[in-house]
Amino acid sequence: MLQETIEPHGGRLINRILEGKEREDLKEKAAGLKAVTLTDREISDLNMIAIGAFSPLEGFMGEDDYNSVMDNMKLSNGLPWTIPITLSVTEDEAGALNEGNDIALTDGGGTILAILHLAEKFKHNKEKEALQVYGTSEDKHPGVKKIYEMGSLLLGGKVSVVNRPAHNDFLEQRLDPAETRKIFKEKGWKRIVGFQTRNPIHRAHEYIQKCALETVDGIMVHPLVGETKADDIPAEIRMRCYKALLENYYPKDRTLLAVLPAAMRYAGPKEAIFHALMRKNYGCTHFIVGRDHAGVGNYYGTFDAHYIFDEFDPKEIGITPMFFDYTFFCKRCGSMASYKTCPHDASEHITLSGTKVREMLRAGKMPPPEFSRPEVAQILIEAMKGDT
Ligand code: ADX
Repeated sequence: MLQETIEPHGGRLINRILEGKEREDLKEKAAGLKAVTLTDREISDLNMIAIGAFSPLEGFMGEDDYNSVMDNMKLSNGLPWTIPITLSVTEDEAGALNEGNDIALTDGGGTILAILHLAEKFKHNKEKEALQVYGTSEDKHPGVKKIYEMGSLLLGGKVSVVNRPAHNDFLEQRLDPAETRKIFKEKGWKRIVGFQTRNPIHRAHEYIQKCALETVDGIMVHPLVGETKADDIPAEIRMRCYKALLENYYPKDRTLLAVLPAAMRYAGPKEAIFHALMRKNYGCTHFIVGRDHAGVGNYYGTFDAHYIFDEFDPKEIGITPMFFDYTFFCKRCGSMASYKTCPHDASEHITLSGTKVREMLRAGKMPPPEFSRPEVAQILIEAMKGDT
């Protein structure tokens, strides 16, 4: 029997956004509290907690959860979770902050975003986190580099948001989990596949999305628009590509474009689980995991992000992963295919490295239509004009 809707992770969609009098009272109180200024990553995490995208988290992790996530890929209550969600400070900053007190969390401009009900201060175990979560302690890894840049102490505790971080981009696509869940219901979609991406969508991505869509009711194309590394294509350019692609090649009544305002970690397999759990919170029943999901450089095996799902009880993950092999256009098949479905030699396959594609686009050259839709390539060529 088909389930009506998928439960959020932990059974309840968290909402840590205060409204009305409660908000006014806390805003007033916050002005007199000691304050911590958040980094962009922490602001994004705060927002993800507040809107329930990180359900069941209600705040930044305490020490038990932090260690349990690193050691067992589970929260201390036993639920699967693979990425630490932490708030760091320097030792100097921490000195003035007492456990049991409320702390104001502000953005760089001094706006109070939230109150942290500080429950714990504890050591940021950077080396362990790097090794256990990212599989390397090298600071060349962009996720590890971020960890090393953070403060040496972590603050744990629930948060209450009084002002959501302000944004003036992708407003129509900034849908919270409660909103996407409502949309799925209105559309009558019961089986919904989520697609994570931090790149322009090329034919390989389109192919796996459409293979998935063949077996479900709808797809949520869900690009990550939080912090990414400097050489990734900016979200604003990607959004133009996604819109052009969807407009021309996707069935309108079966496609939803929304954004995931999370920061990218580049943690490969661990992040694949994290990405899946977030999409479950947004109401997706299925999640696409392809080749080297959330990978960077050569840190992870091509299909490590598939194998990691075997380490969990599928019922505890809840959302169903849809795994895809390496996909490409095959000249002999005359279609998109994958190593799973194509019997021909690799010389028949049209594959281009990211570097090669960037070189072509920068030189104003269209990649072959078997690799990228011309509408997408054109936007990227325009955007890269003037790039060196
Ligand atoms: S990611 O960091 O968000 O994973 P990207 O946007 O490139 O990067 O990938 C989005 C999804 O498409 C991931 O699940 C990834 O594994 C998958 N993917 C990308 N390229 C291919 C390909 N050629 N074959 C199969 N899957 C792919």
